[in-house]
Amino acid sequence: MTDFTDRTVLITGGAGGIGAATAKMFFDAGARVALVDVDQDALDQQATSLGSDARILTIQADVSDPGDVARYVQTTLDELGHIDVFFNNAGIEGKVANLVDTTPEDFDRVIGINLRGAFLGLHQVLPHMTDRGRGSIINTSSVAGLDGAPGLSPYVASKHAVTGLTKAAALEVAGTGVRVNSIHPSPVNTRMMRSIEAGGGDAEAQRQAYEQGIPLGRYAEATDIASLVVFLASDEAAFITGAQYRIDGGMGASQ
Ligand SMILES: NC(=O)c1ccc[n+]([C@@H]2O[C@H](COP(=O)([O-])OP(=O)(O)OC[C@H]3O[C@@H](n4cnc5c(N)ncnc54)[C@H](O)[C@@H]3O)[C@@H](O)[C@H]2O)c1
Repeated sequence: MTDFTDRTVLITGGAGGIGAATAKMFFDAGARVALVDVDQDALDQQATSLGSDARILTIQADVSDPGDVARYVQTTLDELGHIDVFFNNAGIEGKVANLVDTTPEDFDRVIGINLRGAFLGLHQVLPHMTDRGRGSIINTSSVAGLDGAPGLSPYVASKHAVTGLTKAAALEVAGTGVRVNSIHPSPVNTRMMRSIEAGGGDAEAQRQAYEQGIPLGRYAEATDIASLVVFLASDEAAFITGAQYRIDGGMGASQ
């Protein structure tokens, strides 16, 4: 298994459930890790939980803001030297509502963070990686980036778009040493699912309904997702690019 010592991993949404679990897994594998998030308090907590080590860098930034994105990339390069792995992961669920009850402002906010944020990150990180001739990028989409889901139309649209962005970017840089893939989790046990469950009325009933739709009978844990990200970032995944990795407890098998 790849040793990540002397490798640098940049993670957006790094203070959230999936980002934090992935940061810990890379950190434990020897990597330097730059965590980007809008939530400074959560970043501080995450840095503390990793022992406030010199291999951890936190950067408060909004992924939907081009200036912030340029700054988080440049700060990572200045402080940690290079970027080997980019986990382009920050995202929001938006309001749970049918499409006709979703305002253009609701739509723009989700697209701004989930799609524009993912695009801006690729826009800044790809030139650095192609110049160096190496790198792995993992974009966080969702099963909602491959299938529909009622009540979350901006989210579904944004995650389908991340799937397309991944394919386009992977083809553009194929052969340069840079790989670009997307991951597609089913519900994961983080803050985001608590919000989606609550948005649908009876949160406990919603949770049970979601779990019943998953053949393995449970939500993913954030560490399940982290394991896939670390694999896709590793040398063992050298022949994998432009791919969409479902990690869904079997949900996709019935389609
Ligand atoms: N939890 C799930 O069920 C699930 C399933 C499939 C895909 N995903 C995707 O996984 C990713 C991570 O989600 P999570 O479950 O860890 O949720 P989370 O809410 O725990 O973490 C998301 C993090 O992103 C940060 N963030 C939000 N807006 C930002 C912005 N504008 N700039 C920078 N940071 C911002 C938040 O502060 C938070 O720390 C998201 O893209 C999400 O859509 C989650």
